[in-house]
Amino acid sequence: MKKIAVLTSGGDAPGMNACIRSVVRAAIYHDIEVVGVVRGFDGLISGSFTPMNRRSVSNIIQKGGTILKSARSDEFRTKEGRAKAYKQLKENHIDGLVVIGGNGTFTGAQLFYQEHGFPVIGAPGTIDNDLFGSDFTIGYDTAVNTALDAIDKIRDTADAHDRVFFIEVMGRHTGYIAVRSAIGGGAEMAIIPEKETSNEDIVSRLKDGAASKATNIIIVAEGHTPGKAIELAGMVKEAVPELDTKVSTLGHIQRGGAPTAADRVLASRLGLGCVEGLMEGKSDVMVGIINHELVFTPLHDAITMQKPVSAELIRVIEVLNGRVY
Ligand code: F6P
Repeated sequence: MKKIAVLTSGGDAPGMNACIRSVVRAAIYHDIEVVGVVRGFDGLISGSFTPMNRRSVSNIIQKGGTILKSARSDEFRTKEGRAKAYKQLKENHIDGLVVIGGNGTFTGAQLFYQEHGFPVIGAPGTIDNDLFGSDFTIGYDTAVNTALDAIDKIRDTADAHDRVFFIEVMGRHTGYIAVRSAIGGGAEMAIIPEKETSNEDIVSRLKDGAASKATNIIIVAEGHTPGKAIELAGMVKEAVPELDTKVSTLGHIQRGGAPTAADRVLASRLGLGCVEGLMEGKSDVMVGIINHELVFTPLHDAITMQKPVSAELIRVIEVLNGRVY
């Protein structure tokens, strides 16, 4: 490995910058030249490479977003697009590629490796925490903390007016953000795509509690269809008109902001792991942390295997008098 490239792709996540910094500094430590690719796989296809040095990653560990920009590249989904990217890497004498992103990013990276045999390694960067092969993904902890900050504030006004609040959090296909922020926010219910939603149960629980407890915080994972919180609130209002229901969709604020300590440390460990993994000849794998240890998981497993939301976390909510649907 004499020269490597690093890119961020898909939905940005707080801590991506800390990971870029780690990749750049680890490469320089090992006397490897490093370039940044601007705008993810689109930048790889167009050859948007920028040389990186220790200084180019100064003062970014605390910043949200990604200094390399991100994209969800349609062209890289095609064989021709991936061939163009390969040509650019070869022409620029690049020997290895670090990709920081989520499911879609690793799907592209895996195809790229299969078609061109080009050394590629991934660091899990997504607020969704939905990748097998790492207990936590970069950005997840920050997103949960951002959601919690909002939930605490909403609880104040919900309590003042005795209202039922449906708060929609992000998480495409997964309830990770929902479950953790429901525990931390002391929510009465969490609605996640991993479980069957029972409208009857939700209504009967709200009816039962109505006499004794008028304030309710219900965290709804956006799951497959953003807007589920509005749908549920409408359903509840129709079934129990006397309840004062409101909806708050937290949206993209969950993707921004300074990364938490946990995300900065995770990102720093994973970035170093990527560089040293490439040096050891590892490819077509994702670096993750499981039980505090650095592990390498084939990209194929990272994107296809299930990492179910912990039954133990769900139980915590239920024992403490909440419900998960
Ligand atoms: O995958 C991260 C994520 O933030 C999901 O939680 C969300 O469903 C999606 O990205 C939103 O993507 P976009 O910013 O492209 O609308």
